[in-house]
Amino acid sequence: MPFEFLSQALLEREQQGLLRREHVVQAYQQQYVTIAGRRYINFSSNDYLGLAQTPFNTSTQVGGSGGSPVVTGYSKQHQELCEYLAAQLNREAVLLMNSGFAANATLCQSLFSQSGSQSPVKGNLVVDKLAHASIIDGALASHANFSRFRHNDMDHLHSLLAKNNNEGDTLIMSEGVFSMDGDQAPISELVRISQQHSAWLSLDDAHGFGVLGQNGMGTVEANALSQSELPVLMATFGKAIGTGGAFIAGSQTLIDYLRNFARHYVYSTAFSPMQAAHTLANIKLCQQEHWRREKLQNNIRLFKRLMQDAQLEVLSSDTAIQPVLIGCPKLALKVADELRQSGFWVTAIRTPTVPKKTDRIRITLTTLHEEQDIQHLVFAFAEVMERNKEERSQL
Ligand SMILES: Cc1ncc(COP(=O)(O)O)c(C=O)c1O
Repeated sequence: MPFEFLSQALLEREQQGLLRREHVVQAYQQQYVTIAGRRYINFSSNDYLGLAQTPFNTSTQVGGSGGSPVVTGYSKQHQELCEYLAAQLNREAVLLMNSGFAANATLCQSLFSQSGSQSPVKGNLVVDKLAHASIIDGALASHANFSRFRHNDMDHLHSLLAKNNNEGDTLIMSEGVFSMDGDQAPISELVRISQQHSAWLSLDDAHGFGVLGQNGMGTVEANALSQSELPVLMATFGKAIGTGGAFIAGSQTLIDYLRNFARHYVYSTAFSPMQAAHTLANIKLCQQEHWRREKLQNNIRLFKRLMQDAQLEVLSSDTAIQPVLIGCPKLALKVADELRQSGFWVTAIRTPTVPKKTDRIRITLTTLHEEQDIQHLVFAFAEVMERNKEERSQL
């Protein structure tokens, strides 16, 4: 039988407590989700500012773009979004992508190969060990020499760069806010090292855009990063901005190059004009409604303080992503399940999404949470952890 390994692979995942599945959300209402007829307080959403639920009225009734952006899929709504973002971020140009996954993959692949050319473009891709799967997949599919530095370890990065044989160009890739740990990259160090080695720095700001910076323009705004300090910026709209899709920002030459050589851009239908208009409206809301970021920051501080008071350890993070390490996939599932029974929707993040033995409950805080939601969650967490104390001590 062809592809017999499929069911075996699924069985193995199930036996190891690593099987994934969807849960149908019947309703999103403020901080609540309804799943299988029961209402939970949602502590698993990346809609950090609650913008996914803001009403949106548009005169643009065009649902689909009808084509690749380089055919007829690029509407005036797409153009307005690009121009607005470039101006707000002080970048020469912006390219819209259908997803952050595609944006990262295409960056790695197109900067290290020229489609149609006989000889691949040689070079070096040096990537933080905890970078997103899309960067790893893109790097593996590229023609670059691919190496990874220990998470946020600038000495290790420096030594890898020093070892490079100087063949071709070098791209260093990291993240503004790390998706599974919630910590931030040492930005000024990354800029200094990249300049010292004449490399380009690329940041994935999926979890910083919308949230960080006075006006929510992310790691770039929070660190006043110029285009020459950060030649490649990628961020997504599917998290704090509350829609979907992504963008790459940089020099006109970079964007023109990608427009010609990025296969995920050229050979893919653009997202809809309606989505472009909605995204632009939400970016403006995110910039104007400072209270959303302020309330989120208060919620983060409250959660951290209450967890500390309850002597529950959280990985060191000042962002909306607050991971509680469990260390084993089955126990992480059990803890998540018990929290769900208490009315909190949380997700067990397991290997291979995170390194082995770092399976965790990834709590995400949002603007929509009220103080008592967080108080009740921490109270329930303390009970669940106490109940599972023995199993935890055997890990
Ligand atoms: C750090 C990071 N980069 C990229 C992505 C992919 O973005 P998208 O969901 O738009 O494909 C994600 C989302 O899961 C992410 O967390």
